[in-house]
Amino acid sequence: HRDHRWHRFSCRANFERSAHDFILDAAMRSIDDTGRFRLVLSGGRTPRRLYASLRLAQTDWSAWVLYFSDERCLPENDPHRNSRMAAEAWLDHVPIPAGQIHVIPAELGPERGADHYSRQLAGVDTFDLVLLGLGEDGHTASLFPDGDWESAASWPDAIPVQDAPKPPPERVSLSPARLSRTRQCLFLITGSDKREAVDRWRAGTGSPASRIRANAGVDVFLDLE
Ligand code: 6PG
Repeated sequence: HRDHRWHRFSCRANFERSAHDFILDAAMRSIDDTGRFRLVLSGGRTPRRLYASLRLAQTDWSAWVLYFSDERCLPENDPHRNSRMAAEAWLDHVPIPAGQIHVIPAELGPERGADHYSRQLAGVDTFDLVLLGLGEDGHTASLFPDGDWESAASWPDAIPVQDAPKPPPERVSLSPARLSRTRQCLFLITGSDKREAVDRWRAGTGSPASRIRANAGVDVFLDLE
């Protein structure tokens, strides 16, 4: 993984501060270059405090355009939705125009939700930054290790997931190819229960994370204490 930069942290506060700075640096550069910052958010527990810290960031919120890496097929305001977590922790507290927050309509179910989101993404070129996590079993976004990767090149931008081992089983995920159409990608991985999954990824043994690329390389922030 020559295009991967692995950063180890032994303190959660440093991990979060560095992730916060990484995102704001990317935002500043994109806004300077293009007047916009297209950011893809991950779900799970890891980014919650980071998201909350971004409420206080000094930035031009009107330039931020948000997407999601994946979503759980639950009712719109269910607290376990990735979009709900991001809204509560962060997005409800900053003036990003509502039309620039592109939530995956996963309440429609995996097939229809994926179909709608693929159509929304059709006009969207390269993302500026994609945030991702890693599950204990090695999944990223809602791409689980038992996926049929042979056919992945022909997948639409957003794909339906029917039987995820992490609940809920029904989800919508961006495809590896769509997640890889980005300038930068930052993985945020915390907890000792992720060690094996990280080792498998580094050893190159069939991890969904190894399908993800970024034009400027992939950064991986680890706090595995
Ligand atoms: C989800 C995610 C998922 C997550 C990892 C890590 O819907 O759960 O998008 O891919 O990022 O499972 O989750 P934790 O941060 O909770 O360990």
